[in-house]
Amino acid sequence: MGRKNYSSKYTDIDLFECKFLGKGHNGIVYRLPDGKVIKICYVMKDFHGEAHILKKVRGSKYFPKLYEVGGNYMIRDYVDGLPLNKYIKKNGLSRKLVVDILELLKEFERLKFIKLDIRCKDVFVEPDGRLMVIDPQKFYSKKRDFPQHLSKGLYKLGVLDDFLIILKQENPSLYRKWVHKIRIYIEQKKMEDDD
Ligand SMILES: Nc1ncnc2c1ncn2[C@@H]1O[C@H](COP(=O)(O)OP(=O)(O)O)[C@@H](O)[C@H]1O
Ligand SMILES: [Mg+2]
Repeated sequence: MGRKNYSSKYTDIDLFECKFLGKGHNGIVYRLPDGKVIKICYVMKDFHGEAHILKKVRGSKYFPKLYEVGGNYMIRDYVDGLPLNKYIKKNGLSRKLVVDILELLKEFERLKFIKLDIRCKDVFVEPDGRLMVIDPQKFYSKKRDFPQHLSKGLYKLGVLDDFLIILKQENPSLYRKWVHKIRIYIEQKKMEDDD
């Protein structure tokens, strides 16, 4: 599959020359000497879905550019900065950050995602403040009409109420659409944690 006419610019990657950036459940990510990153997957379940998403969102400013997809790896742009959870721990949740998160979720709708949700660890805040999604998963396959994981992350950081207050002021109709779903979800999670 995909082997015919297969050619790569990267025929001689020495991982000892690459900086380790992180690993998750599916893969391990290194920074290449040319500044791009390679994600090598050891769990293939979501690999093609992830590559498919990165192809579909090409041109969106919120996603790293995809350069190459091989058998179990992909090469994409490096994203600098901190994941949202660490960023908020350090800097708190400003109105601007909430507005930027809402813009990101609006972009999800524009891209016709059916999952309007993202985990805090998968959104990076770059040094200039721009948001980037690093690990796109299931946006075209899992239906979710409110930001469930995002809310859980904000709750754990102690800033969910601030988020909701600012959401109400910035976009009252979206607030009305989401607030009950978010509150019910968080209550459920609290009960599960008590078990
Ligand atoms: N484009 C990137 N730029 C910088 N760091 C990245 C990039 N992609 C991934 N990382 C780092 O590697 C880690 C694992 O990558 P991720 O794509 O989340 O793997 P997984 O699918 O296994 O969860 C991330 O948590 C992050 O720290
Ligand atoms: Mg991940």
